[in-house]
Amino acid sequence: EKAGYEHYMRKEIHEQPTALRQTLSGRVDVDRARVDLDVSLPEAFLERVEEVQIVACGTSYYAGRYAARLIESFADVRTTVEIASEYEFGAGRDPDRTLTIAVTQSGETADTLGAIRRADSAGARTLAVTNTLGSSVTRAVDDAVFIRAGPEIGVAATKTFASQVTTLALLAVALGRERGTLSAARARSVLEDLRGLPGAVQQALDAEADVVTAAERYCDEDAFFFLGRDLGVPVALEGALKLKEIAYDHAEGFPAGELKHGPLALVTDRTPVLAVLTEGGAPAETMTNVTEAQTRGADAIGCVSADREFGTLDVAFEVPDVGLLEPLVANVYFQLFAYHVANEKGRAIDKPRNLAKSVTVE
Ligand code: F6R
Repeated sequence: EKAGYEHYMRKEIHEQPTALRQTLSGRVDVDRARVDLDVSLPEAFLERVEEVQIVACGTSYYAGRYAARLIESFADVRTTVEIASEYEFGAGRDPDRTLTIAVTQSGETADTLGAIRRADSAGARTLAVTNTLGSSVTRAVDDAVFIRAGPEIGVAATKTFASQVTTLALLAVALGRERGTLSAARARSVLEDLRGLPGAVQQALDAEADVVTAAERYCDEDAFFFLGRDLGVPVALEGALKLKEIAYDHAEGFPAGELKHGPLALVTDRTPVLAVLTEGGAPAETMTNVTEAQTRGADAIGCVSADREFGTLDVAFEVPDVGLLEPLVANVYFQLFAYHVANEKGRAIDKPRNLAKSVTVE
């Protein structure tokens, strides 16, 4: 069943190119700059929508954070992302002009179901973005879109993150085209990047041996700090979550600019920093913050766009040119890093202590 892999997690990390092709299959028409997601959001609603709310937990929440930036930029509509257990519809909102999206791999997460039901009771239009046909969330919403990543068995979410962001990116393009806020030329360029994503992820997977070397070198450090800006922020947060979950190491993700506002006090020569230094992640500015950490003795591991070079990095992983999707490729390196650190430590990677694949209590 694990097809020769020692753990489902590594198998599922390697399934990402296939999963992404399934996510995109039949949904993209680059020439006509169109997306077909099979959701029938009425045109009149799309024209009047004033706010998109995303509700989710854990890794799905970080996918939502990534997507929110794309929705705002392509569809020119205010987009908020909330941890589902903290979500309330919000005073002063007009439910008639609000689309609330539940992002959930399993479709069974109690916190997310609770949030989407609160949105529904308030009168908002609701949409589920899920991996699971027939799941509870699909029965609680007006419309559902499937991410088609295939079954995910490892407790740590991996391939579903990439497929969630990809599905939401398609939705962002569709909204932008419907609302007339995204030009055909820009839509085509985004859709080209999406088409290139499976191949770009494959290139990262092909560099796994370099990640193993880094994991061996750094697996015994005291803590790990993940840094990013813009689209690199959710990826930094997700990278830290993976390392906590499966390696049981202290890891934190920060918007890189925040480092100097407090966390820098934690940085030593025993706390490597991992950074997203790609397109979509303000690489030059982020590198400034990485250098602040290096000045305090930390080693720096960076995921870097193919056409850039930061000569002072201790380790660099190359990210092929896929525009605003490059931080998603950095995420694959972070997944592999967490996996190999956990593997070095002999952790129960597919079933980490204290955690369950789907959390059905609030
Ligand atoms: C992390 C992880 C969890 C889930 C969260 C939401 O690797 O798996 O943080 O992402 O419990 O689960 P879903 O997406 O099923 O609602």
